[in-house]
Amino acid sequence: MGRRFNFSVILILSFSLNLFLYPRIVSSELKRNYYAKICPNVENIVRKAVEKKFKETFVTVPGTLRLFFHDCFVEGCDASVIIQSTESNKAEKDHPDNLSLAGDGFDTVIKAKQAVDEVSSCKNKVSCADILAMATRDVVALSGGPSYEVELGRLDGLSSTASSVNGKLPHPTFKLNQLNSLFAAHGLNQLDMIALSAAHTVGFSHCGKFSNRIYNFSPKNPVDPTINKTYVAELKQMCPKKVDPRIAINMDPITPNTFDNVYFKNLQQHKGLFTSDQILYTDSRSRPAVNAWATDSNSFNKAFITAITKLGRVGVKTGKNGNIRHDCSAFN
Ligand code: HEM
Ligand SMILES: *[C@@H]1O[C@H](CO)[C@@H](O)[C@H](O)[C@H]1NC(C)=O
Ligand SMILES: *[C@@H]1O[C@H](CO)[C@@H](O)[C@H](O)[C@H]1NC(C)=O
Repeated sequence: MGRRFNFSVILILSFSLNLFLYPRIVSSELKRNYYAKICPNVENIVRKAVEKKFKETFVTVPGTLRLFFHDCFVEGCDASVIIQSTESNKAEKDHPDNLSLAGDGFDTVIKAKQAVDEVSSCKNKVSCADILAMATRDVVALSGGPSYEVELGRLDGLSSTASSVNGKLPHPTFKLNQLNSLFAAHGLNQLDMIALSAAHTVGFSHCGKFSNRIYNFSPKNPVDPTINKTYVAELKQMCPKKVDPRIAINMDPITPNTFDNVYFKNLQQHKGLFTSDQILYTDSRSRPAVNAWATDSNSFNKAFITAITKLGRVGVKTGKNGNIRHDCSAFN
């Protein structure tokens, strides 16, 4: 009797210790099958709409992925980034730092929402924030990245202001400590940050975001000494000094249209585009993860799934803090 009692005490203790050590493995607010009764086919409907858009343009992939990141880092994953400015409110997306978010990301969410709302039982029952989370999962898989189950149950936010963007997003000039502290503020650790940075395996950057690294890095070194010399020559050719600010180039020079671990192989060859990319290899604290994921794409995929799932839990709105928007770009 006494033994059994002790045994269950140990079980309870170790169970609560696990909860304490790994508090983020299960989300308290989100569920994988959240829409099972509300709109059971929602994930198929969204995937079909995203596939259709993907066939029209590859920008669907980086556009959607980056939109999700920026949504979650400013006021939580609540689709606040999709709100259009009005005469009385300058919305998040019109902050000068609005990061040239590609219109195709917004369009992906709007089209998927339309497809969902065409099913009468689903109409106005699925949040734009969840549609963005599903679409992000779909674009990663469509471009060759890992497949994962997405957690759902977010509500759409009730505010979106350009001023709320200040200081919330990382800058391409950031070094490791700055990256770590910004990500830590959202419950993401260094490994999560490194895994998520690999999103730069797809998509474009405007020349102005990194021109300091190839033209005026420091008084002593006009070129950042951590960039590959061959790559510098290519970058200078694509981005001459007086380049049209609208010119954008692939961030992954090797496999720009595939979501893969070549991002990390590029860092090993000193072909990271931004300081914030290359620092992950230069800094000895983050280099082991870069080396590991450059050689083992399975372990990268696992880390990415963990990190993007945690990203999707940032600042989730429930109850009175949100609603289900009828039009993703405007408050009800
Ligand atoms: C770690 C810190 C990060 C910094 C400093 C950063 C910065 C940037 C910058 C400056 C651009 C180029 C924007 C332009 O010129 O138009 C960019 C593009 C992009 N970023 Fe990041 N980013 C970071 C992390 C992330 C994360 C975590 C994700 C997603 C999970 C992400 C996804 C993307 C994508 C997909 C693009 C390409 C967008 C397109 O082609 O339309 N980034 N990022
Ligand atoms: C980003 O902001 C600028 C003005 O700061 C605006 O001209 C541009 O249209 C915005 N981009 C998007 C995608 O909303
Ligand atoms: C620079 O890139 C070339 C391939 O383009 C590679 O062979 C070389 O090892 C790289 N150099 C460094 C220092 O990483």
